[in-house]
Amino acid sequence: MAVPTIREILKKGSPDKGVAARGWIKTRRDSKTHSFAELNDGSCRESLQVIFSPENGDFASVLPALVTGAAVEILGDLVASPGAGQKIELAAKQVKIYGGCDPEKYPIQKKKTSDEFLRTVAHLRPRTNKYAAMLRVRSELAFAVHSYFRDNGFTYVHTPIFTASDCEGAGQMFTATAFDLTKLAGIPKNEAGEIDFSKDLFGKKVGMTVSGQMEGEALALALGKIYTFGPTFRAENSNTYRHCSEFWQIEPEMAFYELADDMDLAEDFIKSITKSVLEKCPSDIELFAKFVEPALMDNLRNILENKFERLPYAEAVKILEPVNDRFEVKVKWGVDLASEHERFLVEQHFKKPVMLHNKPKEVAAFYMKLEDDGRTVRGMDVLVPRIGEIIGASERENRLEVLEARMRDLKMKVEDYQWFLDLRRFGSVPHSGFGMGFERMMMLITGISNIRDVTAFPRVPGYAEF
Ligand code: 4AD
Ligand code: MG
Repeated sequence: MAVPTIREILKKGSPDKGVAARGWIKTRRDSKTHSFAELNDGSCRESLQVIFSPENGDFASVLPALVTGAAVEILGDLVASPGAGQKIELAAKQVKIYGGCDPEKYPIQKKKTSDEFLRTVAHLRPRTNKYAAMLRVRSELAFAVHSYFRDNGFTYVHTPIFTASDCEGAGQMFTATAFDLTKLAGIPKNEAGEIDFSKDLFGKKVGMTVSGQMEGEALALALGKIYTFGPTFRAENSNTYRHCSEFWQIEPEMAFYELADDMDLAEDFIKSITKSVLEKCPSDIELFAKFVEPALMDNLRNILENKFERLPYAEAVKILEPVNDRFEVKVKWGVDLASEHERFLVEQHFKKPVMLHNKPKEVAAFYMKLEDDGRTVRGMDVLVPRIGEIIGASERENRLEVLEARMRDLKMKVEDYQWFLDLRRFGSVPHSGFGMGFERMMMLITGISNIRDVTAFPRVPGYAEF
């Protein structure tokens, strides 16, 4: 039988008879006559206080099992609570123990445990207040993304995970093969002694997508405004607080949008989903502000209240060059700005989000539209405090000859991209899009400082447990 969630019980907040609640015991304390337990079922941050009074039964035999982590069902009456902090509490009459929990061995204790330790027990850390809050916020953030695009006339599309299109350039794509790599001897080879992928399942070498953009472009040039929201994979060996090997990316793509339109959309999108989560999860966000990042509310207000700075790369170089002594990598025109530079611009100089645009073509992806100046591209990164890049965006090169020439310059195999070039052959239009790292947005909205802690089971170099 379904019983109400604790969220539903607390929301209703009124006395009631014969109510059952299920969940896990957070804590229990005993006075001379009464015992009190905090029951939490993950439906909200708040726990339901359960009171065991002698007038409602003899609980002596079950109480020792009501320890932190035990799974129980309590049947009783909801009564007005005399204590501060909650309107109602559950006066227990019957207790059913689903699963006991050995307090000596249970790794999740009420006292604070470090994030590093909790990563080693990622299967149990959602039982902590912080990680349960993170997962509820993650869910609301995902729904906010879908609502935003649906309300703004976008079509939600699904782009493939297996793909031969390496959107962001060589070196970061995981190879996906049906060959049994544990039996090297059995893998077909060509005359040059290389693996013969023509005999593999897809008849060619295929990888796991780094971005849904290219397929997204095809769909935008038919449906107008689309977005994808799915997992993407990068084999880059970056062991940092903001890189994952598997992360979720939100990628809108819009026909007839130029870079300026793309920037306006990106800014409105970030503000809108931030606002939505603040409205939907006030208690969970309060937890992060209280226990994780004291500056969280100021940071979020900063995002919501300021117009993002539109900063051409050339201007950024002018700001950064005079303070080069601060940086490991010295800035001059042509240098690809790194996290240290991005964070200086956002945190020290402008003190608000920055949209850094028109970087030199030498440090830009092949698909970005060449600017009329011939030196820069119509690309843009949204940079935010603490994290740096949260969105990568561009107007796409929609001129067939220019794109082909650029691909040849970059020594790309133009013949492999004929379908992508077809989009420039048949009814080409200016179009733009962006990719937001969902985990980075999670870091922004929760204040959690390591990407390993904004996803339930992180995949990062050297680590794929659970
Ligand atoms: O800047 P990126 O590489 O851009 C693209 O993939 C474009 N094709 C997107 C598009 O225009 N449709 O990645 C986009 C965003 C980054 O700004 C960052 O937020 C996130 O994806 N990202 C990562 N997040 C976590 N771990 C990683 N290894 C990431 N690499 C990129
Ligand atoms: Mg980028």
